[in-house]
Amino acid sequence: MNKESAQPKGSVAFPEGFGWGTATASYQIEGAVTAGGRKSSIWDTFSHTAAKIRDGSNGDRACDHYHRYLEDVDLLAGLGAPYYRFSLAWPRIQPDGVGKANQEGLDFYKRLVEALLVRGITPWVTLYHWDLPQRLQDQGGWPSREVAYRLADYAEIAFKALSGQVDHWTTLNEPICSSLLSYAQGEHAPGHRDPLEAIRAAHHLLLGHGLALERWRHEQRDGHQFGITINLEPIVCAGPDEADRDAARRVDGITNRLFLDPVLKGQYPSDVISDLAPLTDFGHVFEGDLEVIRQPLDMFGLNYYHRNWITAGDPRSDRFSPGTIRVGSADSVVVDPGLPTTALDWPIDPGGLTGVLTWLAETYRMPPIWITESGSAWNDRVDGDGAVHDSDRIAYLDAHLRAARAAIDAGVDLRGYFVWTSTDNFEWALGESARFGLIYLDYETQRRIPKDSYRWFRDVVARNGLAD
Ligand code: FCB
Repeated sequence: MNKESAQPKGSVAFPEGFGWGTATASYQIEGAVTAGGRKSSIWDTFSHTAAKIRDGSNGDRACDHYHRYLEDVDLLAGLGAPYYRFSLAWPRIQPDGVGKANQEGLDFYKRLVEALLVRGITPWVTLYHWDLPQRLQDQGGWPSREVAYRLADYAEIAFKALSGQVDHWTTLNEPICSSLLSYAQGEHAPGHRDPLEAIRAAHHLLLGHGLALERWRHEQRDGHQFGITINLEPIVCAGPDEADRDAARRVDGITNRLFLDPVLKGQYPSDVISDLAPLTDFGHVFEGDLEVIRQPLDMFGLNYYHRNWITAGDPRSDRFSPGTIRVGSADSVVVDPGLPTTALDWPIDPGGLTGVLTWLAETYRMPPIWITESGSAWNDRVDGDGAVHDSDRIAYLDAHLRAARAAIDAGVDLRGYFVWTSTDNFEWALGESARFGLIYLDYETQRRIPKDSYRWFRDVVARNGLAD
């Protein structure tokens, strides 16, 4: 994963019909957490637990999108992008995660989908973007195999209700976050720090993906397209020694290949299995699971933010200690590459995007790839003239689009690019302290103000490319 390319300036055209869009997630935008029969998710519980969210906020209101979706859909229409990726809230559709559907929850998504279609926007559904019904967590959560079967039931309910209008369906968003970050690193709901739970959770998420796809394929008609979104953090070895190379390999294995290989090849990477041997014998993987997980995909969603530079750390430290960078790699160190950074101190690293796209295409038999998230957080503010001048976000997007175009030039079958995100929202453990949107949100008044980047992206979409 190391092909970089500095993209020259100049105008850049994208292939005809390129899929422009924006992306959101239910818990980050909807608010209205008790409306319409919705019950608690693990994120409601977590965000209401002291000291879990950086600024002490929670998603009770977020963008109040549940009530203001028409205004939001109008803003999307003003952007002119043909796609809108959003997730369904499991606790709205099946409040306890089991049993029959909650019609009021389904009706909300029917109204939303209708509003999108009327405005010529294609809805792109993510089934699961982390808001597990709390009741299922109480019964063991993702470390329990049972939850994979519950996801499949939920997938079928959602599909039966919405598949007449919605053609694009993805199962999971970023399974690494709902497994390792959530059950070993403690940073996301439910905030556990148990490496074994995390490895089991990863497998059950992937199994749920496969089972959900089986249900969808069973029901599908012509025109439906199915996939998954996985986030990749390409790993760069940042030290000269064999120990550094081994640390980089281990972090890459647990971060990227642990998810890609089962989904795309039907196997766990053998080096990751041996890395994790002190922790687990993979006895939680039953015969036949990997065939279920490896399903034909019509599209692959890639979320990309930046690479990570890794060296070996103190060899005496415990690789399996929880709460550190990755299960089985807690002895490795993330190094600052010295690149310019966003407001979250994330490296601005468009070269890594070209690199990861070409690496995917060379390494796996890939279906068409869609970048289902790419974006950046900045300390946006409303200026004296009432506008939000977010030139840093524009420069970031411009650079990443040039990097995406370079991958297309190198032969990658890249079909679309969705900006994370349309409106500033509840950014998980960072709460309301990180603004990623093309539209500024005044969290108090709920006023939406399109930023400069909104108008810039509208022009990119209209032109199907970048100006000089
Ligand atoms: C991704 C998540 C998305 C948002 C962005 C910034 O990991 O999928 O919900 O938090 O990061």
